[in-house]
Amino acid sequence: MDMNKLLNILPNNVRHRVEPYFDAAEVLTAVKDPRVMASLGPAGVRGLLLQRGKQGVPTLIQAHHEAFFDWTYPSDQPEMQDLYRRAKLGQWNGDTYLPWHTDVDPENPEVPIVPKHFLNIAKLRDFGIKLTDKEESRLTYDMVAWMLSQFLHGEQGALLAAAQVTEAVQFFDGKLYGATQVMDEARHVEVFHRYLDTKMNKLYQINDNLFVIIDALMGDSRWDMKFLGMQIMVEGLALGAFGTLYSLTKEPLLKELLKMVIQDEARHVHYGVVALREHFNTQLSPRERNEREDWSFEVALLMRNRFLAWEVYEEWFEGRLTRSQWKEVATTSPGLEEFRHVMFSRMVPNLREIGLLSDRIKPHYEQVGLNKYFGGKSADEITGDEMIDELDSAGVQHHAAMSAA
Ligand SMILES: [Fe+2]
Ligand SMILES: [Fe+2]
Repeated sequence: MDMNKLLNILPNNVRHRVEPYFDAAEVLTAVKDPRVMASLGPAGVRGLLLQRGKQGVPTLIQAHHEAFFDWTYPSDQPEMQDLYRRAKLGQWNGDTYLPWHTDVDPENPEVPIVPKHFLNIAKLRDFGIKLTDKEESRLTYDMVAWMLSQFLHGEQGALLAAAQVTEAVQFFDGKLYGATQVMDEARHVEVFHRYLDTKMNKLYQINDNLFVIIDALMGDSRWDMKFLGMQIMVEGLALGAFGTLYSLTKEPLLKELLKMVIQDEARHVHYGVVALREHFNTQLSPRERNEREDWSFEVALLMRNRFLAWEVYEEWFEGRLTRSQWKEVATTSPGLEEFRHVMFSRMVPNLREIGLLSDRIKPHYEQVGLNKYFGGKSADEITGDEMIDELDSAGVQHHAAMSAA
């Protein structure tokens, strides 16, 4: 039965209570491959239906991986050694390096955190929502607080996953490098939390879809699935989100903070590509490779279709807009469109580089319009500095386009 039709005949107060469950069922039933379902399904039930991420402290996730020791200390991965060397030189102290004295006033129009047209306000108006100027800037403020909160939760996922990956990986050079990533992620948690706590005074709960991804990869016993989930997919999401906010914001403290974090993240994704490239191309059976290819496609879709600020919707519009109306507002919002663009321009070339973009899966990416990213640069071909330069020049154009919108 068509779920939308069923929803339409329900009274409003019932409808907005059952809609999230229908929505979750739609995500879970969309996954066709049983092996992918076995990996994402239980995490999906915990995240989307039980909303484990929102059930208060603590959230416990069972880990099942083996810790890999090597008492011969081989030094046979030159690209990882180089990343380790660069990571040591690139360490920075968030306390002293960032201008925390900056007075952040999120409602000051002279120094906007993001431009006014980050959200599709016109679409909201079409749906009968009228906001005053003050409410519009409040809503934009909440969107930024929501994005930064998700960054922070993603960073906590990265901190714990980086520690797991350091234990589980078989490359000794990778373990040394991994330790620097653990430190990087700790610093990211520290600076994002400090920014939210002392400058924005607001923290949103973890988005259910982000929770599903973190839950699925933390509990997977296969080291390469953790790498794929964390270093390629979640780091790709992070680079997309950080990059978008970096190029849009005029707030100097946040801009500097993001610039520093992006440079660290560029190394993390590079490491993921180096570690997985050889493994996927030489160590896996075609069946195992296909499973990973399907898994990453499903996760990419989850990120594209589902990272839509539902927590902001619930706070502002639940009962006034249907979920599908909000989805339309969010998917057509310039700020979120830009985020998806930056995310996929980073993620898809990396999937290609590690061998997860075969002719078998390409038509699926084409169907959802992601083929334009097939030829982009992968993480091993671009440094953090180059990424920042690219964002700086793109930022000027997008700012002009959004201000004119
Ligand atoms: Fe990070
Ligand atoms: Fe990272």
